Amino acid sequence: MTNEQRVAVVTGASRGIGREIALRLARDGRFVVLVSRSAGPLSEVKALIDDAGGASAVCAVDVGDSGAWQGAVEKIAQERGRLDILVNNAGITRDNLVLRMSDEEFDEVLRVNLKSAFVACRAAARAMMKGRFGRIVNIASTSGVVGNAGQANYAAAKAGLIGLTKSLARELGGKGVTANVVAPGFIETDMTKDLPGEVRDRVLMGMALKRLGTPQDIAAAVSYVSSDDAGFLTGQVICVDGGLTMC
Ligand code: NAI
Repeated sequence: MTNEQRVAVVTGASRGIGREIALRLARDGRFVVLVSRSAGPLSEVKALIDDAGGASAVCAVDVGDSGAWQGAVEKIAQERGRLDILVNNAGITRDNLVLRMSDEEFDEVLRVNLKSAFVACRAAARAMMKGRFGRIVNIASTSGVVGNAGQANYAAAKAGLIGLTKSLARELGGKGVTANVVAPGFIETDMTKDLPGEVRDRVLMGMALKRLGTPQDIAAAVSYVSSDDAGFLTGQVICVDGGLTMC
């Protein structure tokens, strides 16, 4: 089996980091299933992949709706006859200080950022074990490694992703399935565009590389972690953060 024939699922592929991961995996020769809530923006990403000679399909689903999302992953595996690479990238923030954070803000972030990954990994693992090959890549955050004031819900979800991933690595390793976390630092996307200037400056000061990351920086890491070449890499947290945490 070569990389050319592998089927990859990328969530949150309509914009930002997920979009770039999808474009990169398609360029790497994977068949990429683009997942996000609405089909319109995904079709634009698909058109870019088509124009570049790649192959992809669009799957519009709310990954926070466990039943619908599980059904979608099972359908993808069944229709394509395999599922080799799963990138759980979809994520949201609902920032607030702990004392002001509502149950809803906490639950929603856990549901979209963490439970959706659990549901997808469980459904995809069956197909991966059958094929005796799999690459699970969960996109966490350095907030999940070192915490972040104002992001208790988000940091808890991202730290949860790390525990989930390490457990999956131990459970599935014997079947040729690896599971790793890519933890971005501060990346220029819609999620970070409204950061106040002083926060941005403070972050930059703490970074060895003195620049914010790009979606391409993250996509390059995911490209390697999801490749056939990365078969001896599992249970790892790879912080792609310009030397912010050196975690
Ligand atoms: P973004 O806000 O630009 O894009 C998020 C994507 O997730 C969009 O495609 C959106 O439609 C999708 N999405 C959100 N909720 C969804 C749902 N319920 N169902 C289906 N799709 C849904 O975010 P960005 O910056 O590209 O982040 C991507 C991932 O990287 C997230 O998991 C985020 O937590 C993580 N990250 C981002 C950092 C940054 O600095 N931008 C830093 C660390 C981690």
